[in-house]
Amino acid sequence: MHETFLFGRMENMNDAINNEVPKAVLHIDGKQIELPVLTAADGHKAVDVSKLYDKYGITTFDPSLNSTSVCQSTITYVDGNNGILRYRGIPIEQFDRPQPNFIEIAWLLIFGVLPTRAELREFRDRLTSHELLHEGLREQFSDLPPKSPPMAILAAMFSQLACYHEKFLPLDDEELFIEAATRLISKARTIAAYAYRRSKGLPFTYPDPALRYCANFLHLMFSIPYQQYIIGEEVEDAMNLVLILHADHEQNCSTSTVRTVGSARANLFASCAAGVSALWGPLHGGANVEVMKMLESIYQGGMTPEDCIKAAKDKDNPFKLFGFGHRVYKNYDPRAKILRNAADRVFARMKESDPLLDVARKLEELARKDSYFIDRQLYPNVDFYSGILLRAIGIPPNMFTVIFALGRLPGWIAQWKEQHDNPLQKINRPRQLYVGEMHKNYVPIDER
Ligand code: CMC
Repeated sequence: MHETFLFGRMENMNDAINNEVPKAVLHIDGKQIELPVLTAADGHKAVDVSKLYDKYGITTFDPSLNSTSVCQSTITYVDGNNGILRYRGIPIEQFDRPQPNFIEIAWLLIFGVLPTRAELREFRDRLTSHELLHEGLREQFSDLPPKSPPMAILAAMFSQLACYHEKFLPLDDEELFIEAATRLISKARTIAAYAYRRSKGLPFTYPDPALRYCANFLHLMFSIPYQQYIIGEEVEDAMNLVLILHADHEQNCSTSTVRTVGSARANLFASCAAGVSALWGPLHGGANVEVMKMLESIYQGGMTPEDCIKAAKDKDNPFKLFGFGHRVYKNYDPRAKILRNAADRVFARMKESDPLLDVARKLEELARKDSYFIDRQLYPNVDFYSGILLRAIGIPPNMFTVIFALGRLPGWIAQWKEQHDNPLQKINRPRQLYVGEMHKNYVPIDER
């Protein structure tokens, strides 16, 4: 075999072999290896290399998994070239107006079908019954430094749910899974709000069982003991829409993290805690915070939109146009399109405006006519306009990524379940291409 791991030709023999499993042929070191070709629901082809190592001792090399399908899934469909996103086959645009409740979408993602009225009622009741945190867990918020990053708190508290709900760790049957999943979705909202309250030095309010999921979250965030927060309908709708649009996005960084951790048969709490950590990164969910910093800086006069575009194009400058570009979308992210229009709607309903929306529009206009962005097919992604909408709701920037996590939670759970339910699933264990020294002797410290 070539040491440099050079592949020979790989050709698709799809057309040549009628009515048989399509094959691709790999020519390597004088050998000819036939590989099955799988076909996705939209006709997209994937060469199945899963037996390549065991049979031939050969691996494939794809460091950031750009050309690797890591699983078969029926949850979310993304067509990045045409800007299409569907949950269980339903186009995301159909969740804009009339708007379903976020928990309906959570059910759809996790269980694969839209819930009946009775199922939805039962799900809602379960969520309500689990909204409180164990007092032991609640008290832990007070021990955290007041400036703790809310994403750090979220990840830690997700993990700690395992300490208070140990009974649900085995997840060997459907009922245990539902119990764990509903606890996680319900308590995540309380944990998220408490993380914010800790940062503000506010007392921890208890959830209100009479309120819907999003309204209850807003109440937990903003009510104070002597003043109940009045939740405007437009604000609740905007929150609901943001959560729905973030609910799943197939094998993104945090979701594949959840799957990888779950593949070791780690429990749901631990797997989702890992997802939170991955989401925190500024190239992933943390981008919404960076977008807001960028828009603020332009608005405050720190830089002009033109400076910003120039800096993003400068290869010697690590600055990026945050909220732009996507590994999969080479077109307008459909979520960004909905959020941009929703921002207009919400401000009209609130009879308010936000100068940062104008800044964002100006940046988009400049980028969309600049050859750098056109040639690289860089369009606004979900994070570009979500912060504007969250700001309208009153959510501070340090909570933006937490809101993303709240929205993404049903997706993580659905993906964890899909993997867990697959009897063929094995532990994820990628291989590497070792390029270090092959053999060296240890030198005792005095002789170095
Ligand atoms: N600003 C300036 N240049 C960019 C940007 C950007 N936002 N995004 C990509 N590019 C350039 C990149 O430098 C590269 O240029 P060249 O071909 O000259 O080397 C080219 O476009 C291709 O980009 P890439 O980095 O190879 O693309 P990727 O698929 O590895 O990365 C990304 C995707 C989302 C990490 C990247 O576009 C990015 O960093 N965007 C800004 C961060 C951001 O908004 N992230 C949120 C993503 S969507 C929601 C989520 O997943 O959480």
